[in-house]
Amino acid sequence: MKPAEAEFYFFASLEEASRALCREIIREARQAMSAYGDFRLVLAGGSTPVPLYEMLAAESDNPGIPWKSIHLFWGDERFLPQDHPESNYYLAAETFLNKVPLAAENIHPVPVWLATAHEAASQYDQILGQFENRKRPLFDLTVLGLGEDGHTASLFPGYPVLEDKLSLAAALEEPAGSPPVPRITMTLKGLARSSRICFLIAGKKKREIMEKIRTGGREDIYPAARVRAMDWLEWFAA
Ligand code: 6PG
Repeated sequence: MKPAEAEFYFFASLEEASRALCREIIREARQAMSAYGDFRLVLAGGSTPVPLYEMLAAESDNPGIPWKSIHLFWGDERFLPQDHPESNYYLAAETFLNKVPLAAENIHPVPVWLATAHEAASQYDQILGQFENRKRPLFDLTVLGLGEDGHTASLFPGYPVLEDKLSLAAALEEPAGSPPVPRITMTLKGLARSSRICFLIAGKKKREIMEKIRTGGREDIYPAARVRAMDWLEWFAA
């Protein structure tokens, strides 16, 4: 598989990269609103997006952002309660969701309150499927992180979920990643339903992995190298 046509943007700091991505998200929100009447944004987990979420929260009074028409989804989730400090939902809620006037019914978290990660993934897969239609991309913009092993979302190297061609979301029922807990993740198929995908990364090790992905031929090692978007694939790297 040849490397996806991607754009790479380099910044002196995570703050600068986050500010650039924040501007793009706001621009994309306006464009999607005028084209489709809503904006569908997929959030990343981990710690790297925190400055970005705080910058988006600081735009809560921006009249140009259609907050009430923004739908939020997650690229992956740890199978933890939503009030657990290592929940991706908790991270987004504390830094972003609780500070902006979103419509509660437009926030679509992974249903981690169900009995198992498998049940949560099956229901999340159905929730995402309900948004599919041929008139518009399932998602307008997806933010992704990168692990130092080349994983993205909870698509870890060597895991069978990488070969799931049918689901939009799936479960890793055995503990995986850090923290080592069961996980729910969008699959490569689910991620590929996004018009625009923006990786946001910081640090030398991740930049090195990005450079290897950029030169191509790493799809067998790095799951992030297998990510494809419908229209644009971009790397915001600090
Ligand atoms: C997760 C994330 C994961 C994350 C990377 C980078 O749930 O862990 O979705 O894919 O983006 O592991 O994490 P950091 O930003 O904390 O380095």
